[in-house]
Amino acid sequence: MLVLAGISSLVTNDITLERGKLGVVENAALVVGDDNKIAFAGEAANLPREFKSSAIDINGRAVIPGFVDSHTHLVFGGDRAEEFEARMSGKSYSAGGIRTTVAATRNSNNDALVANARRLANEALHTGTTTLETKSGYGLSVIDETRSLQVANAITSETTFLGAHVVPAESQVNDYVGLICGEMLKNCAPHAKWIDVFCDRGAFEVDHARAILQAGAKAGLGLRIHANQLQHGGGVQLGVELGVASCDHCTHLDAADISALADTQGKTVATLLPTAELCTRSKFPDARRLLDAGVTVALASDCNPGSSYTTSMPLAISLAVLNMKMTCDEAVWSATAGGAAALRRTDIGNLAVGSNADFAVLNSRSHIHLAYRPGVQLVDAVFVRGQLAAGSLR
Ligand code: NIG
Ligand code: FE
Repeated sequence: MLVLAGISSLVTNDITLERGKLGVVENAALVVGDDNKIAFAGEAANLPREFKSSAIDINGRAVIPGFVDSHTHLVFGGDRAEEFEARMSGKSYSAGGIRTTVAATRNSNNDALVANARRLANEALHTGTTTLETKSGYGLSVIDETRSLQVANAITSETTFLGAHVVPAESQVNDYVGLICGEMLKNCAPHAKWIDVFCDRGAFEVDHARAILQAGAKAGLGLRIHANQLQHGGGVQLGVELGVASCDHCTHLDAADISALADTQGKTVATLLPTAELCTRSKFPDARRLLDAGVTVALASDCNPGSSYTTSMPLAISLAVLNMKMTCDEAVWSATAGGAAALRRTDIGNLAVGSNADFAVLNSRSHIHLAYRPGVQLVDAVFVRGQLAAGSLR
């Protein structure tokens, strides 16, 4: 049992409280039950008497649900600092850089891959991420994709098979698509919850993406897609056609893509990854248009060694607010409940009674400061399933 009081502002994302989508309660208290789920979230004045004596006063700080980072690529070897520097000197980003990381990943043993993925997951935890999805996609052979997923399972249960990241240097596209849909999927599916395809310029075209996702669905995997990052194409429309949980990136959309996403009524989430645009000096996605059309929007980090080497969800929130016309409330919702929706989860990303007690205590009186104070470490303490996992309450 853990009881926190003195919460200046508590973001619950609980619409049943009838305090808007974010369900913000001021002067709040939070109780975690012995089952490590939320037992009470509301005004401190209404805290049941039996909890009062054990309450810890957090002195007017804000509490938010832990971030749900629904899109990362943490299983890889090496880094691409030189590619980054070349890009900052004027070269443009292309999907081809992925092959550099494929070579480094194939040369890394499992222990090194686990250590690197853990280092990044821990970094994410310290900035408030309590759930993250992660993908294979830098192995691109049956053996290396399978062990990438085994590594992914060491850090999360939200694991995604991304054999269809690019075609590896040694293969022809038709042969490789056949391999993905056959032997690779057979070996990888037991270690994955989701399947994803990078459907874009320099990666996979729509018909191949459709075949791969349909094979994944047949193998019992949930569907997600990297779509419309580098140019406008049919990825988002394919995602909607197949009922994917999330179309990720959504940087180059036309009106038909936006209305197709809106028509899914939240079944397919648009996951925006503004740190990828930041680190590739690309234009940001039009979050405002998506939100105004009624699309469910998530924010995620896309942490990977090429296009977005950051685990920081607070940075994604700042960018979404400062560069993409999202409100602070929308951005915090998208980084928590939105990420949960992209993973089709309702037990995380909110602090309603009965949900997992995954939350962050901020060093500020409001969640607004996450965007208002860009680049500042505002997370004092992070609790996962009711246990202190990073930082401290002091
Ligand atoms: O989401 N878009 C495809 N995959 C990654 C980039 C991977 C890389 O450059 O290594 C992304 O941005
Ligand atoms: Fe990605």
